[in-house]
Amino acid sequence: MDKFIIKGPVKLKGQVIISGSKNAALPILFASLLIKEPIEIKNIPKLKDIDIAIKILIKLGVNIKKKKTLRIDSSSLLRYNPPSYLIKLIRASIWILGPLLTRLGKVNIAFPGGCSIGNRPIDLHINSLQILGAKINIKKNHIQGYIKKKFQGKIIRMKNVSVGATITIILAATLACSITIIENAAKEPEIKDLANFLNKMGANIQGVGTNKIIIKGVKKLKGGIYTIISDRIETGTFLVAAAICKSKILCKNTNPNDLNIVLQKLKKTGAEIKTGKNWCSINMHGQRPKSVNITTGPYPKFPTDMQSQFALLNLVSNGISIIKENIFENRFMYVPELIRMGANVILKNNMLKCKGVKSLSSAEVMATDLRSSVTLVLAGCIASGITIINNISHIDRGYENIENKLSNLGAHIQRIKY
Ligand code: UD1
Repeated sequence: MDKFIIKGPVKLKGQVIISGSKNAALPILFASLLIKEPIEIKNIPKLKDIDIAIKILIKLGVNIKKKKTLRIDSSSLLRYNPPSYLIKLIRASIWILGPLLTRLGKVNIAFPGGCSIGNRPIDLHINSLQILGAKINIKKNHIQGYIKKKFQGKIIRMKNVSVGATITIILAATLACSITIIENAAKEPEIKDLANFLNKMGANIQGVGTNKIIIKGVKKLKGGIYTIISDRIETGTFLVAAAICKSKILCKNTNPNDLNIVLQKLKKTGAEIKTGKNWCSINMHGQRPKSVNITTGPYPKFPTDMQSQFALLNLVSNGISIIKENIFENRFMYVPELIRMGANVILKNNMLKCKGVKSLSSAEVMATDLRSSVTLVLAGCIASGITIINNISHIDRGYENIENKLSNLGAHIQRIKY
């Protein structure tokens, strides 16, 4: 297990180039199984989760060339049962169900893995595929699926808003017979990116970004080139880093429109935020942030993937604040670690009461999941002394080159490899 050694406190300065979005790239990679002609994908982030998704596709017989861009040719797709040891490593592997059923009429996969941030059921994915015509059996931690001919378009009303299940339906409905309508659909920018990708390749998906998505099944998709959107959560994470370091930085290759609520909250902390078409800057003018209340919810509400970073911000800000987590029940695993660094916080059910302290002190802490890991890294940048963060493997799943990007901004961070 690698660890980070971080020396703080520091001021950050300069610019950072934001990578492609992990949560857009993953569904697009699995969507490539629907296309029998070669495709080329640009702005793919260099991340562990992406490498795992690529390995899964290669194991299925897909031809992939990885250079600056990713060339995928899935005409050679052969297998319907990818290796369990890979499927179990990422949550996103659930998105293989629709494309494999569409292409091969059957699928057999282990239960998908991912961050331990709650129960993470898959009932909405399975129910939706059944409504569209698949027969699904769940046996011995495996999902087995069959479909006679093609998925049949239907109206699906989601009982909860789910990013993952909305994507599962889009992937199953793209080449289905007739029209599928998703009511109460998720509206995340990553879903829009998937639909833009599929539409560019010949699909007919409308209404993405609203709660009603209409997918007219088409006969086939064609090849082409697509550029993935940049990662709004990585952008938000760097902006919070600058806010807690009372600093000024510029994020390039990012779309501020995808970050409205996060930018609004940062403005409330006293940050000066400037935005352009593909950039965004923050300037704290050397001031400690003021606290802000946060309640997470489906897009366009505050993203759960930014909850832990904003909790840290509140824990070193001026004032008392409440953080309410409404999406995942187990997303506070970083809290005991921050308490060890001097944070003043009370956790009750899905709520945190944060009383800002002027500074944190260094400690040896343990990272538990992706967003918790990055939050501890940011905490290390402001704590006085040497912070050691153990078990940082999670961070490579979702943050490309985090230590280089932070070092370029002035942080003192070193990876110790084991
Ligand atoms: C995706 C993102 C994750 C983000 C989350 C919410 C990826 C790879 N992951 O996760 O980073 O934090 O959206 O923005 O893109 N639920 C069910 N049954 C299901 C599916 C979900 O009850 O079948 C519940 C979940 O437990 C959760 C809520 O619905 O409480 C939302 O989950 P969902 O939007 O599906 O999250 P993911 O797609 O897993």
